[in-house]
Amino acid sequence: MISPVLVLFSGFLCHVAIAGRTCPKPDDLPFSVVVPLKASYDPGEQITYSCKPGYVSRGGMRRFTCPLTGMWPINTLKCTPRVCPFAGILENGAVRYTTFEYPNTISFACNTGFYLNGTNSAKCTEEGKWSPELPVCTPVTCPPPPLPKFATLSVYKPSAGNNSLYRDTAVFECLPLYVMFGNDTVTCTSHGNWTELPECREVKCPFPSRPDNGFVNYPAKQALYYKDKATYGCHDAYTLDGPEEVECTKLGNWSATPSCKASCKVSVKKATVIYQGERVKIQEKFKNGMLHGDKVSFFCKNKEKKCSYTEDAQCIDGTLEVPTCFKEHSSLAFWKTDAWDVKPC
Ligand SMILES: *[C@@H]1O[C@H](CO)[C@@H](O)[C@H](O)[C@H]1NC(C)=O
Ligand SMILES: *[C@@H]1O[C@H](CO)[C@@H](O)[C@H](O)[C@H]1NC(C)=O
Ligand SMILES: *[C@@H]1O[C@H](CO)[C@@H](O)[C@H](O)[C@H]1NC(C)=O
Ligand SMILES: *[C@@H]1O[C@H](CO)[C@@H](O)[C@H](O)[C@H]1NC(C)=O
Ligand SMILES: *[C@@H]1O[C@H](CO)[C@@H](O)[C@H](O)[C@H]1NC(C)=O
Repeated sequence: MISPVLVLFSGFLCHVAIAGRTCPKPDDLPFSVVVPLKASYDPGEQITYSCKPGYVSRGGMRRFTCPLTGMWPINTLKCTPRVCPFAGILENGAVRYTTFEYPNTISFACNTGFYLNGTNSAKCTEEGKWSPELPVCTPVTCPPPPLPKFATLSVYKPSAGNNSLYRDTAVFECLPLYVMFGNDTVTCTSHGNWTELPECREVKCPFPSRPDNGFVNYPAKQALYYKDKATYGCHDAYTLDGPEEVECTKLGNWSATPSCKASCKVSVKKATVIYQGERVKIQEKFKNGMLHGDKVSFFCKNKEKKCSYTEDAQCIDGTLEVPTCFKEHSSLAFWKTDAWDVKPC
């Protein structure tokens, strides 16, 4: 670096003595241009430094004349980037940026439920303006939901004029006798459409058939529909296997098909058994036979250990299989101890 004082001093010394030296190519300054730009200049030639487009300096351009000394004066030009207006905030969205200076680009994104009205990025131009203009985040809206066949809207309130906003819901109802498949509630999505619409279908069930040894009642109608009910019953000595009442399901069949099962005659003359946790005399408890599904436990003897254990038997549609380990004594064999009087194993 040559001090300005030294430049002035040497200029004074050489003033007359030297006819004139040429000036070299001027120094490169960041973000600036020199006009005209040459390899050398004769004394008296002028150059102008100015900032490149997009850059500015305080005090504007600088003009210099090549002195006889052949040395360009010190240049204090400082070019700095233009700064675009603050754009760091996007309502209902976010801005990504480093600085707002030329020639940077900033980018935008909207929150869910909003869409970008405009471009997703903007550049700070040479003029210090954003291009294209800054976008806005506009709320997503859904048009009125389409109406599925055989359905009506039971809850619907457009919240944005005739439209709905993101997350708004609408609820459908099926016409009478129609059954809903899918969710009755639809929601306005961030894509501006509704979630999947439900379907309303007519559901009929066949007339239930009469069970053997029993009967069935159902409404006297042309057809039976979803939620219609039928009730079953059995004739004497028969027990219903299944619920008394059944319902027509969404799938078009009945919730169950009960049947009538025969009761069991008890072939054992005398025995104490366990029935529903209590010791009962089988011949008394089941005078009229055991009902289908009834379960009892018979006592059997373990001869070696001289103790008793139990085995289960169940009445299944008229058949009660007495456990083979159960031994019925003749009423004459009074000296024999019955299994149910022997201590348990
Ligand atoms: C997008 O934004 C511009 C300017 O803010 C506005 O005039 C225009 O109506 C908007 N368009 C939509 C579809 O919202
Ligand atoms: C809603 O729709 C009706 C009928 O299409 C129309 O006349 C009305 O201007 C709309 N209202 C708004 C707020 O868009
Ligand atoms: C129906 O959709 C709503 C919201 O869309 C949800 O909250 C609800 O759990 C859904 N119901 C069923 C039965 O899937
Ligand atoms: C809603 O629009 C999105 C995006 O276009 C699409 O992926 C989606 O399947 C649509 N949803 C329905 C229920 O139509
Ligand atoms: C009704 O029908 C469906 C499909 O046809 C079957 O999966 C279901 O087990 C049936 N329900 C009864 C109670 O029979």
